[in-house]
Amino acid sequence: MDAYQAVKVTENIFWVGAIDWQLRSFHGYDTPNGTTYNAYLIRGNGGYVLVDGVKKGFEGELFSRIASVCDPREICAVISNHSEMDHSGALPEIMDMVSADAVLYASAAGVRALAAHFGGRLHPVVFENGASKTLCGREIRAIETRMMHWPDSMWTYDVEDGVLFTNDALGMHYASFERDAGEVPWSILEEEAATYYANILTLYGAPIRKLIESYPNLGLTPQVVCPDHGPWWRGGDIGKILGLYARWSDPARIRRNVVIAYDTMWHSTERLARAVGEGVSGEGVPCRIFEISKTPRSVVARHLLDAAGFAVGTPTLNGGMFPAVADLLCYVKGLRFGLGTGVAFGSYGWAPGGTRAVEEMLGGMCAKTLPALNVQYVPTDDDLVRARLLGVEIAKAVRDAGAS
Ligand code: FEO
Repeated sequence: MDAYQAVKVTENIFWVGAIDWQLRSFHGYDTPNGTTYNAYLIRGNGGYVLVDGVKKGFEGELFSRIASVCDPREICAVISNHSEMDHSGALPEIMDMVSADAVLYASAAGVRALAAHFGGRLHPVVFENGASKTLCGREIRAIETRMMHWPDSMWTYDVEDGVLFTNDALGMHYASFERDAGEVPWSILEEEAATYYANILTLYGAPIRKLIESYPNLGLTPQVVCPDHGPWWRGGDIGKILGLYARWSDPARIRRNVVIAYDTMWHSTERLARAVGEGVSGEGVPCRIFEISKTPRSVVARHLLDAAGFAVGTPTLNGGMFPAVADLLCYVKGLRFGLGTGVAFGSYGWAPGGTRAVEEMLGGMCAKTLPALNVQYVPTDDDLVRARLLGVEIAKAVRDAGAS
């Protein structure tokens, strides 16, 4: 008996992926709960189809789970839904293990990406967008899902069992032995899915929205939706996760929260941040405060998904912003949250270069920016009142924007 066993998804479909309990960073996104690299075996009357692979280093776990179902040489087709290395890294080893006649399929962009990653070692064939193929006796459809998460991303659909394989989309970085979402509390699922969306997919909201809008016309009636990270979705949970994607990708969604993120040298900017927060909250607007050097950037990003206002505090260091502030702003700017109101605040010694640098960044991230609040050295009681009033101003701007 193998140490690692496959888990049944349906009568003919098995999860054969790997659990990465120790992953703590996924290209800059902190993953305190690890992740899974999901791969699936589809049993047909002519052999098995393997959907997706695992990160290099996890192929032993994959092969062990496969062996609990079949001889890997019975795998006559491999589908790569996405070329990022967490799914493709072990493809060379996989292709060495499967039937010598097995064909590797990918989208047209996926074929190019696999060539760029592996040179001539793999020989992928294009699975055309919208096409159906009979692979190993199973009817499989392919749907291109560009930018969910890369240009090469696609979904594949097993028609007979009604199982949709969505790769990165609808997934989460959450390691667990519970493979079915029905075994995990919804509050955890929603929070992990939101964190994943915020950190991986926010900047692709437009194509995601287009795909979600066209979803009812794709002819898909899945009983199970199987992403490549985290648990799979069944029944009513499928509509719930699709509904969340529809909401998160809607630029006009109602956002009422304010995020305050700061770093501090001698606690002056910290005191300002707390006073700004008092002003925001005093107006009845939900607000969270994060000290950047003590908070993973991905946590701030998750909260920006629901934010309309973003206040960033920095001391001035060497004429510019604090390094941790620059790190955060570089990260969240790229995610394009489409924020409403931004403002900089902070303490300085002899010239307020920190807030000027932050304002420049916020200008590209927010629909409008408020004048910065600058305090020399240590805030006085009057300065803290000014900070509180700045919070009131942010809250009003957020409320006014929500009312328009
Ligand atoms: Fe899970 Fe874009 O890779």
